[in-house]
Amino acid sequence: MPSFAARYNGITGSAIREIFKIIAQPGVISFAGGNPAAEALENGRISDLAREALAEDGKRILQYGGSEGWPALKEAASAFLAERGVNASPETLLPVSGTTQTIDLLCKALIDPGDTILVENPSFLGAFQTMRLYQAHLSPIQTDGDGVIPDALEDAIKSAHPKLVYLIPTFQNPTGVTLCVERRKAIAALAARYDIYILEDDPYRDLRYSGETLPTIHSFDQSGRVLYMASFSKLISPGLRVGVVAAPPDLMRKLVIGKQSTDLHTDQLSQAIVARYLSQGFLPGHLAELRALYGERLRRMLDGLDRMGLEHTTPEGGLFVWGKLPKGVDARAVLDRAIQRKVAFVPGTHFYCDGGHDETLRLNFSNSDPDTIDRGLDALAQVI
Ligand SMILES: Cc1ncc(COP(=O)(O)O)c(C=O)c1O
Repeated sequence: MPSFAARYNGITGSAIREIFKIIAQPGVISFAGGNPAAEALENGRISDLAREALAEDGKRILQYGGSEGWPALKEAASAFLAERGVNASPETLLPVSGTTQTIDLLCKALIDPGDTILVENPSFLGAFQTMRLYQAHLSPIQTDGDGVIPDALEDAIKSAHPKLVYLIPTFQNPTGVTLCVERRKAIAALAARYDIYILEDDPYRDLRYSGETLPTIHSFDQSGRVLYMASFSKLISPGLRVGVVAAPPDLMRKLVIGKQSTDLHTDQLSQAIVARYLSQGFLPGHLAELRALYGERLRRMLDGLDRMGLEHTTPEGGLFVWGKLPKGVDARAVLDRAIQRKVAFVPGTHFYCDGGHDETLRLNFSNSDPDTIDRGLDALAQVI
């Protein structure tokens, strides 16, 4: 029988994608995915922009393009980032087919089997899956309620000599925790001191419903070692698959070569649509709507969890709340029974690079209206 590559050993596929099959069934209340709300997806506006882009630029859009990306998107993304304090000129930006691809391209450029990547624990399991396919060794960094602890990160850098540090500093997936400002500064300084790449994955920064916006780690970086990635998935549409990464020229060259062998270039119609969406100024108004919509849903979920007496984080934005069941209760067993009552979530153990933490769970609030959130939590309370 033909055998598969060793890099697939022990890799089972995303637990969330398996749960997706369950939530696709009618009537299921999903606290599982990280999906934007259906009403947040602007099919009318996007189809207008697509028509406009094809009418004006169709011959170029429908032709093969450069791996370096659609120039108008790079211009628009550079302006988008500048408004967020991220100084990245268009030529330092690579458009990617979703930021998931950035993690893949970075691993391709940096990771040999057995190399260490330092990760928050828990962290985004999609990133773990990619890193594991490149046979990286994932090593956890110590965190607390304010995110990664810089002294612990420094110790880990000194002892593990990682090739990459992967961080989600704002409304982290899965916990919703945000790294405080002093730590952002300290972490940027570590990138310079140890000459090490830090990947700042920041898809939730604009989804803030209360509190003060914080500067990015990238904005404190003097060394060019902090790589910033922004995704338009949660802000405009995940189906368009458009994100960007800011990287220095030597690394950029490797990312571009890697991209040539992956998909040649990001879909040009998607890039043109996002470029027009940004340059025509639609984002601020849409963000205001998203913040109102999701902010109410977050409050409803936090109130419901308080009513249930479930221990949880209290994020000021993003898409997720992290919960902790009573000691000895396994979230996977709770999920099995919750599914019978047509409620789904993701057991927290899947977000730990070393497993365990069976009593934790991740709850998404963006994809259900407030009354549905109440009903879902009531059902969950009964199961628990
Ligand atoms: C932290 C984090 N990074 C990256 C992604 C992937 O986003 P994209 O759709 O841009 O590939 C997600 C999606 O949920 C995420 O939560």
